[in-house]
Amino acid sequence: MLQQVNGHSCGSDAQSPASLREDLQEFLGGEAPLHQLDDLTKVNPVTLETVLRCLQARYMADLFYTNAGCTLVALNPFKPIPQLYTPELMRDYHAALQPQKLKPHIFTVGEQTYRNVKSLIEPVNQSIVVSGESGAGKTWTSRCLMKFYAVVATSPTSGENYKIAERIEQRILNSNPVMEAFGNACTLRNNNSSRFGKFIQLQLNRAQQMTGAAVQTYLLEKTRVACQASSERNFHIFYQICKGASEEERLQWHLPEGATFSWLPNPERTLEEDCFEVTREAMLHLGIDTPSQNNIFKVLAGLLHLGNIWFADSEDEAQPCQLMDDAKLCQDISLAAAAPS
Ligand SMILES: Nc1ncnc2c1ncn2[C@@H]1O[C@H](COP(=O)(O)OP(=O)(O)OP(=O)(O)O)[C@@H](O)[C@H]1O
Ligand SMILES: [Mg+2]
Repeated sequence: MLQQVNGHSCGSDAQSPASLREDLQEFLGGEAPLHQLDDLTKVNPVTLETVLRCLQARYMADLFYTNAGCTLVALNPFKPIPQLYTPELMRDYHAALQPQKLKPHIFTVGEQTYRNVKSLIEPVNQSIVVSGESGAGKTWTSRCLMKFYAVVATSPTSGENYKIAERIEQRILNSNPVMEAFGNACTLRNNNSSRFGKFIQLQLNRAQQMTGAAVQTYLLEKTRVACQASSERNFHIFYQICKGASEEERLQWHLPEGATFSWLPNPERTLEEDCFEVTREAMLHLGIDTPSQNNIFKVLAGLLHLGNIWFADSEDEAQPCQLMDDAKLCQDISLAAAAPS
């Protein structure tokens, strides 16, 4: 009888270390180049080393997607590969008789899921789980899937339908810059790290055309507003309003050029995510008009000012703390700076 000990099997059928090493050598030194293995189930023997060597070989050959049975392993290329995400390629995967026979790609997963809904007499919901560590490419992958469905699941016939479809598509895609401005931040591991989880629901009608979307967010790291690890940043939106506001807005929101805020660390770093115009445009598309946006940005500016308020220790705990005045604050800060650590 086989037994499992710490994930290793032992017993009469268990492979001896020597024969495993032999198989390993044979596999790694085999004739077929490792990067040609597009499914990890073909890796034999399955060990951490063989799987990683196979993925590494594929990475070196610019092959970033690999199947693992019915799961897709996506490697982050850490460089733009525009030809991998063109609308033409999306249509190729959509039109293919057997998309699973094409190269492994996130579009295969998208297309198979789409077909699963389509082929059933009674439509059944389908889910795609995107998981991985910080910086692995989950947000990127979800964006790719949404773009894919925006292309393949909106093919209206009449002019009026075309306008409706285009509006839905634009709204769905515009939810990303807004969620990322308010919920993403630069961390040590990822310049655009999502500080929340999300459940995106894309709704299709009976003709398998996209009619809407709903996004549920959860576990937003709210404490980041008031407390950021050193070398990390607050949510992108705070930097966007400070860097992108017009002169008039600066006056309105009390954000003079060059003002410093203790809740806004590392403002000198400029990221491509600091684009205020993109967020504003996306908010407009989602139906948040300019006066409502203005109110939101005023609240955010108010939060930044709140972060600059300091309280003096109260001698009597029963009494409210007094606000520190600027002169006292400067003195305390310079004393703290002069104190030996
Ligand atoms: N397929 C890809 N092609 C090109 N660049 C990519 C790809 N996947 C990820 N990246 C790059 O890696 C960065 C990190 O990816 P992403 O933000 O999707 O990670 P994540 O898994 O969502 O991390 P977190 O859990 O911190 O939110 C992206 O900003 C992008 O620059
Ligand atoms: Mg993310």
